[in-house]
Amino acid sequence: MMADGMPKGYRFLPDPDEIAAAVLKRPTWAVLALILAIELFTQEHYKKSIEPDANLSALFKDLFLFHLKEETTHAIMDELEWPREDSKLTPVERDSSVRELIGLVADVDGILQKQSAEDVDYFLSHCRRRFSDDEIHRIKKRVLGAYRWQYIFSGVEHPRFKTLLEKLTTDEQRQRINSALATLS
Ligand SMILES: [Fe+2]
Repeated sequence: MMADGMPKGYRFLPDPDEIAAAVLKRPTWAVLALILAIELFTQEHYKKSIEPDANLSALFKDLFLFHLKEETTHAIMDELEWPREDSKLTPVERDSSVRELIGLVADVDGILQKQSAEDVDYFLSHCRRRFSDDEIHRIKKRVLGAYRWQYIFSGVEHPRFKTLLEKLTTDEQRQRINSALATLS
């Protein structure tokens, strides 16, 4: 929708229906974990980048404030739903759900890698300045890092996510999750 008002050439590569179908193939436990991370990072995004910005329009800020309030309710529901789903699982099922959660995060990262590279190319095609190959490489790295922070780390490193994950998983399972995350940072 925004692309209509932007300079030509913007492409949003992920297909939302394909992603939804891929996510829903995963076990509910892993999907609920991802959803909680998303509901939390959405709130972090507002708190860190919208609320403190004095240059944004009051109406724009207000819209996102009400979105944050909605997400607050969603996160509270996730914190009830995820343990409820967890209580239905055997240790073997939970362990495979942990593996699936790691797979889901890798899928998210695949999307971020593609879209961040695409967004930098779009930026470069419209920016009047020329950049060296080294600068382009650094811009791509930074943008990917920023996307990973926004869409993965600000959720999974959120204290509320960590607290609940700690209750639902063993040390060994969390170690697996953390080493998978470490490859992205
Ligand atoms: Fe939500």
